Amino acid sequence: MKNIKAIIFDAYGTLFDVNSAAEKCKDKIGDKWEPFANFWRTTQLEYTWLRTLMKRHKDFWQITEDSLDKSMKAFNIDPEMKDELLNLYKVLSPFQEVPETLKILKKKNFKLAILSNGTPSLLNRLVKSSNLDNLFDDLFSIEEVGIYKPDSKVYDLPIKKYKIEKSQIAFLSANTWDVSGGGNYGYQAIWVNRNNNIFDNLDYKPINQIKNLSELINLI
Ligand code: LAC
Repeated sequence: MKNIKAIIFDAYGTLFDVNSAAEKCKDKIGDKWEPFANFWRTTQLEYTWLRTLMKRHKDFWQITEDSLDKSMKAFNIDPEMKDELLNLYKVLSPFQEVPETLKILKKKNFKLAILSNGTPSLLNRLVKSSNLDNLFDDLFSIEEVGIYKPDSKVYDLPIKKYKIEKSQIAFLSANTWDVSGGGNYGYQAIWVNRNNNIFDNLDYKPINQIKNLSELINLI
């Protein structure tokens, strides 16, 4: 990859493991913790898209709570666990290779930033709780434009701040639809395919596919 000036990361699912909140409660939730975590995540994302289409915006924290309520009912989880799950969601674990990879990229003088559906306070707390706060130049939140990914106003945010071309951005997401969103917008989008998934048919194929972030070092 040539001419990359900034490396922009999606947060949830890409840098931070969205399933880690439910996983930390697996003793109490039992074997269904993983399908429950997947259902919660899918419902959360559906609510971002549905609220966008309905023009009834709520921030990502409210959506996370609303989708948790539905998921807990669907999986018959003790309502007393709600606060514990929400508190764990505020301090999701980063994937194992993330801190080291970011440190190496930072030394190579790229702009490093997060571009996420999360609110500014959620993103601040996430990076602080995992000691990654000194590594990012910016934490771009969709709250600045009041609409969720994959609206192009979201992907405009780093372009406006850094005054660089779309193609000078390497955009990394584990969410296939977000790779398609950023790629269709004009970024050089890379799919972090941790679980050997199948890509979408949304008019964009990623320029590269990696299994985890450490593979990025050799690409850039
Ligand atoms: C985010 C979601 C899409 O961080 O994972 O924006």
